[in-house]
Amino acid sequence: MNYIAVKSYESLSKQAALLIAAQILNKPNSVLGFATGSSPIGTYEELVSMYKQGILDFSKVTTYNLDEYVGSDENDKNGYRYFMNEHLFSKVNVDMDATHVPNGVCEDPTHEGKRYEDMIVGAGGVDIQLLGIGLNGHIGFNEPDTHFPDTTHLVDLTESTIKANARFYANEAEVPRKAITMGVGTIMRARKVILLATKGKEEIIQRSMYGPISPDVPASILQLHPDVTVIEVI
Ligand code: GLP
Repeated sequence: MNYIAVKSYESLSKQAALLIAAQILNKPNSVLGFATGSSPIGTYEELVSMYKQGILDFSKVTTYNLDEYVGSDENDKNGYRYFMNEHLFSKVNVDMDATHVPNGVCEDPTHEGKRYEDMIVGAGGVDIQLLGIGLNGHIGFNEPDTHFPDTTHLVDLTESTIKANARFYANEAEVPRKAITMGVGTIMRARKVILLATKGKEEIIQRSMYGPISPDVPASILQLHPDVTVIEVI
């Protein structure tokens, strides 16, 4: 595990953006795995800024996002497709057809999971995956479980995740209960992983990186990843 300790959210964002920028510069047609939530917003701002300065070109990249709520379409302001369009895709020269987020309004979420996973495999796998972490150790929407789910699949969100996400909704009842997420296996097959740990995540990062590897703490499996970089604000 590579570990970068930083003093501020700005530094965390800059460090993460530099790693993604290096990936794009080394391989312009990289497959980038993106995340949502508050942790990566600054990283996307940095990437947009590097694009505007002429340092980065997104025209050949392909992107796959970790997850999407069941019921969210591109117009849902709390949905993850909307988030990505807003924070990154509309601000750089990425080919929109090469950007992928699970389809939250598909007829059959189980089939959608398989379709999404097959597309990732068909693209040659993810070169670099950006991750945040939930307070219970979830990555993507892989919640604490009795096993590590392998491929993209339908999940029921836990009470703790529903509560954490309620801040974006008028009330808790409106928070979606289900999501489609890359599996832990999908994430582990990414060639590089960057895990962002903002203030307040110290305890779960400690448990994930130094505690027992267990599906109780989904992020703990990252201890077995050959190229993971944890960037933590301390
Ligand atoms: C959501 C997302 C995760 C994200 C987590 C943490 O549940 N599905 O991908 O890592 O929230 O969010 P935040 O970065 O806002 O703390």
